[in-house]
Amino acid sequence: PSLSILISGRGSNMIAIAKACQSGELQATVGLVISNRPDARGIEAAREMGIETAIIDHKGFDSRLEFDQALHERLQQARPDWIVLAGFMRILTGQFVDRWQGRMLNIHPSLLPKYPGLDTHARAIAAGDSHAGASVHIVSPELDAGPVISQVKVAIEPEDTAESLAQRVLQEEHALYITALQHCVNMDLDSSTNSMLP
Ligand code: GRF
Repeated sequence: PSLSILISGRGSNMIAIAKACQSGELQATVGLVISNRPDARGIEAAREMGIETAIIDHKGFDSRLEFDQALHERLQQARPDWIVLAGFMRILTGQFVDRWQGRMLNIHPSLLPKYPGLDTHARAIAAGDSHAGASVHIVSPELDAGPVISQVKVAIEPEDTAESLAQRVLQEEHALYITALQHCVNMDLDSSTNSMLP
């Protein structure tokens, strides 16, 4: 199975996934990494790993619909089995999400359904929560609201700041995303085996 990974910045989740594919830990290939920001650090990292990259700068489009159309066309060329959002900071139109329905995953740094949107760790600390975490979910048209596939919990320590907590959660995100993708990819492999049955 082939993955297209969408990023906007550092790309540490993308790198972890790509390494897992290269080592054989994850039975998939990263066919394409797309960034909506030309200066995304992760793009350089992807190139160094020999992965095909594309930049589709959202600033070059007049509307979300036009940006999403360009994204869709590029993805159609890559023909991924799964689209993996990894720190991709653009809200996608319902139209785009519908076209890739059930084939697009996102990682969100909270224990969904708690704290959709931004500043998740600061909000968890302010609320006095005992745990923060991250969730991998199927993307649905509503932001951070699609069905959750798996989650990881991380204890909040008394001395935690949003930054220190984010750092600890991020370490867990990498393993979580790889495991979730393993599950999705296995589902594909199983169903293709089944379809060969008489
Ligand atoms: C992660 O915390 C992810 O949960 C959130 O954005 C961050 C991306 O980090 N959606 P990276 O670009 O993968 O390093």
